[in-house]
Amino acid sequence: MSAPAALAFKDLASGYGSAEVLRGLSGEVAPGQVLAVIGRNGVGKSSLLKVLGGHLPAWRGGIALLGKPVERLRPAERHALGLAYCQQERPVFDSLSVRDNLALGMKAASPADMKPFFERFPVLERRLAQQAGTLSGGEKKILAFSRCLAEAQPVVLLDEPSEGVQWENILHMAALIDAQRARGVAFVLVEQNIEFATRLADHYLVIDQGRCVRHGPAASMDREELLRHLHV
Ligand SMILES: Nc1ncnc2c1ncn2[C@@H]1O[C@H](COP(=O)(O)OP(=O)(O)OP(=O)(O)O)[C@@H](O)[C@H]1O
Ligand SMILES: [Mg+2]
Repeated sequence: MSAPAALAFKDLASGYGSAEVLRGLSGEVAPGQVLAVIGRNGVGKSSLLKVLGGHLPAWRGGIALLGKPVERLRPAERHALGLAYCQQERPVFDSLSVRDNLALGMKAASPADMKPFFERFPVLERRLAQQAGTLSGGEKKILAFSRCLAEAQPVVLLDEPSEGVQWENILHMAALIDAQRARGVAFVLVEQNIEFATRLADHYLVIDQGRCVRHGPAASMDREELLRHLHV
């Protein structure tokens, strides 16, 4: 990668209790690029994003966000430096309205900033006053995704945004990601949907049991190899 990294991590190790689940992961993503993190269930994809987001401590290794070391910073401090993070589990605040969920994530954004999202996902605009807890699983993912991208942060972590979302809306997600990467936003995208991942990825990081088993530019990995990594 020639451009300086928007986000870089080196030799990251972490885990839960005494169980190590990340065993020395390294990677980086340049502005305007998508690093797709691929791997079977339980290999550590979400744990990696938690460590990058600051929700799980790094036992070893370093993280540089826009050139600054952040591995010791809290989630809010990383957010203030330019990191947005859309978690896989419980992505929205169930007891808040859709409107308040959207407002929470948006530091300086105005309702006009939501326009591109309402155009793609009219269900959000129709349900603005509704409690987010009453949305379907797929609608919650769409809400969380939109809130995260509406923050307009330079670096975005997305943990399986397409899970439970219908294909037409997955394509809308891809279009919104493309529009932001054209403006220089860098994405780390955890995905098990190969069609979605291959549409967006510039680089892949393939994880198995907390270790990198393959990484490289998108052109170096075909669909068959990716499917093998996911299903073997
Ligand atoms: N809170 C936790 N406490 C203890 N172990 C955990 C916790 N969260 C995850 N793990 C374990 O860490 C390992 C990696 O989990 P992680 O959620 O990172 O996997 P993943 O690749 O995101 O899986 P999936 O594709 O199912 O989302 C698994 O063995 C999991 O059981
Ligand atoms: Mg996960």
